[in-house]
Amino acid sequence: MEERVLSSEAMSNDLSFEQSLRPQKLSQYIGQDKVKSNLAVFIEAAKMRKETLDHVLLYGPPGLGKTTLAVVIANEMGVNVRTTSGPAIERPGDLAAILTSLEPGEVLFIDEIHRLPRAIEEVLYPAMEDYCLDIVIGKGPESRSVRLDLPPFTLVGATTRAGAVSAPLRDRFGVLSRLEYYNEEQLTDIIVRTAQILDTDIDWNAAVEIARRSRGTPRIANRLLRRVRDFAQVRANGIISLILADEALELLQVDRLGLDNIDHKLLKGMIEKFRGGPVGIDTIAASIGEEAATIEDVYEPYLLQIGFLQRTPRGRIVTPLVYNHFKLEVPHK
Ligand code: ADE
Repeated sequence: MEERVLSSEAMSNDLSFEQSLRPQKLSQYIGQDKVKSNLAVFIEAAKMRKETLDHVLLYGPPGLGKTTLAVVIANEMGVNVRTTSGPAIERPGDLAAILTSLEPGEVLFIDEIHRLPRAIEEVLYPAMEDYCLDIVIGKGPESRSVRLDLPPFTLVGATTRAGAVSAPLRDRFGVLSRLEYYNEEQLTDIIVRTAQILDTDIDWNAAVEIARRSRGTPRIANRLLRRVRDFAQVRANGIISLILADEALELLQVDRLGLDNIDHKLLKGMIEKFRGGPVGIDTIAASIGEEAATIEDVYEPYLLQIGFLQRTPRGRIVTPLVYNHFKLEVPHK
């Protein structure tokens, strides 16, 4: 069978515009203080010993900076980073091609690592443990296994679902770091930093307002900043004031807590159709036309974090905070 040449989706190295906004060094990275200070020690120790850094698994909700941190780790180690993702690697040969093309010491970043097929995971085990590949040549009784040495490398894996990473894979990471939601102050600092890079004037209280409505997530903060900046450019003099930010966020349908129309649909749907729950995730998903996995990975974590949703053995329930937020009467159950 013909081996597939590495496709462009399976591997990318380009520095996108998004990348240029991102911090390149630990000292520029705002927030995640515990993760950062531990990593700083592990990086310094590896450098002192002239070794590669042990493999790192980063987990936590989307948009909190896992990819950014992988790039920062590579920069701090003074090596290149190669980026791919679980779903982009379709066959063991794809992964073998990536691993054999690494330069010594490089960081291989695999996003959504929980989506690697099991057969491909198995290629990773000897690669992570002993820097080698076990390749099977031939088929049936004639087949034999050949060991191929690989250059030493650091695997940085990222996942939104630590629980979905198989135990044998998880156990092969030497460093496991959980990223947390950012607080308002950290997000304000990130917004001010990004505005500086974009050469945009922003009032401090406008940055605070955008931060408050960013669901603890830098990716959302930077996206909202760019959209608010568009309004400032077209409707104002380019300066982002608090009033302008407020109006723009209203037009973007981002409410006071940063909840958008899908959060609203989900929460109101639970109240109107299921009397606030308990209701199963698949039922909620079907009733609002979203995928259950998207709700679980993208929407639900923040709603759980702010105490709007609770998980019970019988399903999800909305809390009284949701009724207050929508100015509805809290039902007596
Ligand atoms: N941009 C996005 N995330 C960031 C972070 N954690 N620190 C600084 N700038 C960022």
